[in-house]
Amino acid sequence: MKNPYLPLPMKLVKNFTETEDKLIHTFTLQYLSEEDEKSFPYMPGQFAELCVFGKGEAPFGIASSPTEPGFLKFSVAKVGVVSTALHMMEEGSTVGVRGPLGNYYPVEELKGKNLVIIGGGFAFTTLRSLATYMMDPVRRGDYGDLTVIYGARNPGLLLYKEELAAWEQNPDINLVTTIDRAVDGWNGRVGFIPAVTEEVAPNAENSYAIICGPPVMIKFTMPVLEKLGFPQERIIMSLENRMKCGIGMCGRCNVGGKYVCKDGPVFTRAQLNELPNEY
Ligand SMILES: Cc1cc2nc3c(=O)[nH]c(=O)nc-3n(C[C@H](O)[C@H](O)[C@H](O)COP(=O)(O)OP(=O)(O)OC[C@H]3O[C@@H](n4cnc5c(N)ncnc54)[C@H](O)[C@@H]3O)c2cc1C
Ligand code: FES
Repeated sequence: MKNPYLPLPMKLVKNFTETEDKLIHTFTLQYLSEEDEKSFPYMPGQFAELCVFGKGEAPFGIASSPTEPGFLKFSVAKVGVVSTALHMMEEGSTVGVRGPLGNYYPVEELKGKNLVIIGGGFAFTTLRSLATYMMDPVRRGDYGDLTVIYGARNPGLLLYKEELAAWEQNPDINLVTTIDRAVDGWNGRVGFIPAVTEEVAPNAENSYAIICGPPVMIKFTMPVLEKLGFPQERIIMSLENRMKCGIGMCGRCNVGGKYVCKDGPVFTRAQLNELPNEY
């Protein structure tokens, strides 16, 4: 059995400055062999611990999709020791990857359903993975209408601009991007995500909402989804509690009787309602 504490060495092939403020970099990591790739079977919503030798490790959501073979993608905000060390790494260096960890978005349960994916700021990483997975030509027919509502403070802070541009042209996905305040040259919507979600008014019938973002965005979007008729069992969220081991051993991440690293990070609103409000 695989040792869950042993990181997989991967080659950093691209260290890309994703946002205008330079605080988010996206890393493309390549497997060193086919065996290594087979040893890392992941699904959208899962995360991994990225290890920088001599600095430490930290958990990050996997932004690539299993439908994109050969590499893993992570988008990392520069906030502390590990993320800063990652930002400074040269292409060609080795990064340790421990995972895949946690549960994932319920892609089987979502088959035949309409999906509304709602993301705010840089918490769009695993949502990118999910949307890319569903947009794969082999899988697209398994899912109903796909709407993505994605917002950031300004256009320069939106992640994955290439994908967004491609989705904008694709009739198989309804992409709605929004920024907080109007700026010259912006043709998308202007307004906060809760208001834009209310305007777009996705039909709740046979639909699931999957939402990731800053707590304030979630707080104000939740009543909108409820008003639109989404039941709590069909609102899915991903938590980012502080973690250490990532495998249910150290107790750092627990909320009530649940380990966010192992039982989550993906939960329905109905499941979270059963837990103490410590997330
Ligand atoms: C499941 C999961 C997925 C994540 N996905 C991503 C991702 O895709 N991209 C990304 O940029 N970050 C993500 N994070 C958050 C990331 O793990 C933390 O920001 C981590 O602290 C970065 O490590 P560091 O060594 O750079 O920071 P540290 O030096 O450990 O900390 C820097 C500062 O951030 C604070 N901090 C540490 N962890 C958290 C936390 N979880 N919440 C709030 N404050 C914290 C510390 O108190 C300190 O002030 C994720 C976290 C989890 C649990
Ligand atoms: S991080 Fe150690 S138990 Fe969850």
